[in-house]
Amino acid sequence: MSLTVQVPASSANLGPGFDALGLALRLYTTVTVCPSEVLEVCPLGTLADCTPKGAANAVYQAFVQPFALRGQPVPTVRMEIASEIPLARGLGSSAAALLSGLLAGNALLRDPLGQGELLDLAACQEGHADNVAAALLGGVVVACFGGRNAQVLRLDPGKLGALLVVPEEPLATSVARGVLPDQYSRHDTVHALSHAALLAAALATGKLELLGVAMQDRLHQPYRAKLVPALESLLELAPRWGALGAALSGAGPSVLCLYDRDRGEPRDLEQAISGWMAAVGLRAQLLRVAPDLQGARVIRPGAGAQAGTGGG
Ligand code: HSE
Repeated sequence: MSLTVQVPASSANLGPGFDALGLALRLYTTVTVCPSEVLEVCPLGTLADCTPKGAANAVYQAFVQPFALRGQPVPTVRMEIASEIPLARGLGSSAAALLSGLLAGNALLRDPLGQGELLDLAACQEGHADNVAAALLGGVVVACFGGRNAQVLRLDPGKLGALLVVPEEPLATSVARGVLPDQYSRHDTVHALSHAALLAAALATGKLELLGVAMQDRLHQPYRAKLVPALESLLELAPRWGALGAALSGAGPSVLCLYDRDRGEPRDLEQAISGWMAAVGLRAQLLRVAPDLQGARVIRPGAGAQAGTGGG
């Protein structure tokens, strides 16, 4: 059987929700699998230059996992992998690769793993559930991951729009996690708890005017700012130019600016950021991206898209 899996990009943290909050975005990794006489793993487009062909590819490595878990032989397939998600830019490309492989393998097995099992499996491998939960469920997610099982609530992003500043230079997540302290003061912990809680509540109730305050962070952005020179300025300037709030996207280096789609297209914000980028010499792409509402989907020939997952 042939099938296609599409998994959205995601922006994790949203400021103070470190490893806990995420937003799915309409940029996709698309993986097509069909029967073949020999194994072929084919990254397409820009992926062809920077990700492995053959069994070492991360998507294929994830694809085989459901078969191993079920004690089933892995079928020989041709796998084509295409992605619109910029790699190593804090937009959930690795979560999308992992989930697209898991979902493709699970779908070929006729969905033995349910949504919760897929989420736990992916979160265990990522070490946190924010990106994988957003990519799997779509929308905004609040994810709690204790190391084995994830508890996730999905919220509707309502009128949120996202404007991304995506720098040309990549940043490895391991490097961006490596600069974080092991311990925090009680003061910073209370700051983080209260802001993340306010942010989740503001998103759940649609009180978008609170995002400017609620997205403030002391847990990771101040430490990562030395790796992302544009960060501090953009966090300060984007709200002045009309953004509801701004945050480092995931581990960076992209910066997420949220805006209210009810107020129309964010042309002033885009122009102000473009002008500023030119003035400071920041080489980055400006991408306006809508939230993804559906999450990961499996598309089987002759059937409609099946949201996310599998059995249950
Ligand atoms: N929450 C993660 C981080 C996302 O900020 O390190 C990147 O994988």
